[in-house]
Amino acid sequence: MNILGIETSCDDTGVAIVKDGFHIVDSLLSSQDHSITGGVVPDIASRKHMEVLPLFTCEIIRRNKDIKIDKVAVVVNPGLIPSLLVGASFSYGFATGIKVPIINMNHLLSHIYAPQMQNPSIKYPHISLLVSGGHTQIVKVLSPIKTEIIGTTLDDAAGEAFDKVARMFNLGYPGGPVVSRIAENGDENRINFPRAMDKKNNYNFSFSGLKTSVLYFIKENKDNVSKEDILASFQYAVVDILVRKTIMVARDLHCNTITISGGVAANKRLREEFLKYNDFEYYFPTIDLCSDNAITVAGLAYHYE
Ligand code: KG4
Ligand code: ZN
Repeated sequence: MNILGIETSCDDTGVAIVKDGFHIVDSLLSSQDHSITGGVVPDIASRKHMEVLPLFTCEIIRRNKDIKIDKVAVVVNPGLIPSLLVGASFSYGFATGIKVPIINMNHLLSHIYAPQMQNPSIKYPHISLLVSGGHTQIVKVLSPIKTEIIGTTLDDAAGEAFDKVARMFNLGYPGGPVVSRIAENGDENRINFPRAMDKKNNYNFSFSGLKTSVLYFIKENKDNVSKEDILASFQYAVVDILVRKTIMVARDLHCNTITISGGVAANKRLREEFLKYNDFEYYFPTIDLCSDNAITVAGLAYHYE
């Protein structure tokens, strides 16, 4: 079964062919540059998808002309509506044209599938921490297509917090990679930023207070505390709460397998922090499958009837 996956939920245009849910046949991915605006502008992102998506689809079909596409899978939710509309409209037209069924895909399940796709022998149920620019959730994964939300952020997502703090220092967008790079040279114990909802039995997150606290700290101390120390302490506050809550859920639900996915799963400090708790088995995706892509969309679609 060869599935053509299409991803346009935010600012990445992805097209991929995956065979039987696990084997990558081919893939194309283009990431837009929204650093000037400090965040993704939906109208600009969707126009770019309109330019790139038809070209990528034609190119991948041309490169794999001996392969029969059995289904098309497209991300329809959640995401930026103008961006999703380009992907969905194009995909429905394309699938109708080549006379194959189309599957509507969930963006979050596609992220959560990344570590499963790269480790087909993974055990179910397991606990998954999904950390992206739009979402932060702890879920129980019963199968590739069935999950239960255990905890979620009540305001900002973890990636969003990285992006907003990066903006305070004019570091461009996305903020996560550059913040973590600068944080490597800082003292993460210098400032004790708040960890919200840090209570037993509370599986939810909140990052908006942390963001505000960093903002006030910068206003009052930017001349006597280095950017490196502020960013390292901020990163540690995010990582610390993400890891301790995920471990708490895994312990409470008696699951010893943990997966991590989404853009923030690329964060080196997050990966290190998990490894301090060595009574669990961890599965991190490779960096290319942490952020938005069409490979996990096409892979996950195989698990639907
Ligand atoms: O999953 P993703 O590509 O898109 C969404 O679905 O949102 O995640 C993008 C997010 C951005 O907020 C970006 O700043 C963050 O992931 N990110 C990181 C790192 N790399 C990307 N955050 C922290 N550390 C990183 N190394
Ligand atoms: Zn995403």
